[in-house]
Amino acid sequence: MTQIRGFVRPTRRPGELGIHSLDSFNLVVPDMEAAKAFYGEFGLDLQARGNHFNVHTQGHWHRWGTITEGSRKRLSHLSFGIFEDDFDRFKDRLGHVGIQQLDAPKGFESNGLWFHNPDGLLLEVRVAEKSSPNEKSTFAMTSAPPGSQGSPNRSQAPRTSPRRLAHILIFTADVPASISFYERVLGLRLSDRSGDGIAFMHGIHGSDHHLIALAKAQGPGLHHLSWDVGTINDIGLGAMHMADKGFTVGWGLGRHVLGSNYFHYVRDPWGSYAEYSADIDYIPVNCDWRAEDHPPHDSFYLWGPVPPEDFAVNHEAAG
Ligand SMILES: [Fe+2]
Repeated sequence: MTQIRGFVRPTRRPGELGIHSLDSFNLVVPDMEAAKAFYGEFGLDLQARGNHFNVHTQGHWHRWGTITEGSRKRLSHLSFGIFEDDFDRFKDRLGHVGIQQLDAPKGFESNGLWFHNPDGLLLEVRVAEKSSPNEKSTFAMTSAPPGSQGSPNRSQAPRTSPRRLAHILIFTADVPASISFYERVLGLRLSDRSGDGIAFMHGIHGSDHHLIALAKAQGPGLHHLSWDVGTINDIGLGAMHMADKGFTVGWGLGRHVLGSNYFHYVRDPWGSYAEYSADIDYIPVNCDWRAEDHPPHDSFYLWGPVPPEDFAVNHEAAG
């Protein structure tokens, strides 16, 4: 069912230039059927269009990304959304900071501005509706009244359907240089970091604690795509369903410190992860969040099982 959309005025910080949303991603995979099986079971709505999939969430108007076929799995580009009347200012800014503009990749022709990030990952800035949330997403803990059963029977367990793309974590060879790039070029702000190992950045027009996170590795690559759900029960049900379908490797259930979200990560067929995420911190349009540098041992996760040994490995770089 398609969500009925009334007009909601997006939140916007007056006078300042910055992207408002992580608009979409394109993931290249060597096996389209494997991608459909993994992301479909995860709860996403993959719609076949010619030779690619459009990635949607049930009931949401936005297309969060595309999946195309190639010789090896890789994140090929990210598109960031801007307000229409900021387009010329962004174009000027790219010129001022000496960013070379590129042609759109074949099959992704657009009116956007295309360029590389410091790791050589292709980025686009495009005019788009604000798909990042304008307020903190709802989160619920329900308790059954006395005299009634709170849980459905196992056979009646509902499927988890993520509500929206929450964020992406990508690898970079140089976290401080990347922070500077995303601040100067895209107008993102640092939310929190752990030294030069990982950083979390938010949009100035109202966004979650992070719409992009950057982790240190040898080179670029996708660590995870994070998908928002509304309850811890949704996280558990999603993880259980994935395990039932053979996707047993992952990490969770746990709670992060930076972002505060409850999580469970499921490993995809190529070594990246899809994250079920609930109740992530929100940074409203009028909030100047105080970024801090946190020691890793005090900020990676509040509670949860020990993460897999290779959780932070960039399998994409290994080829
Ligand atoms: Fe995440």
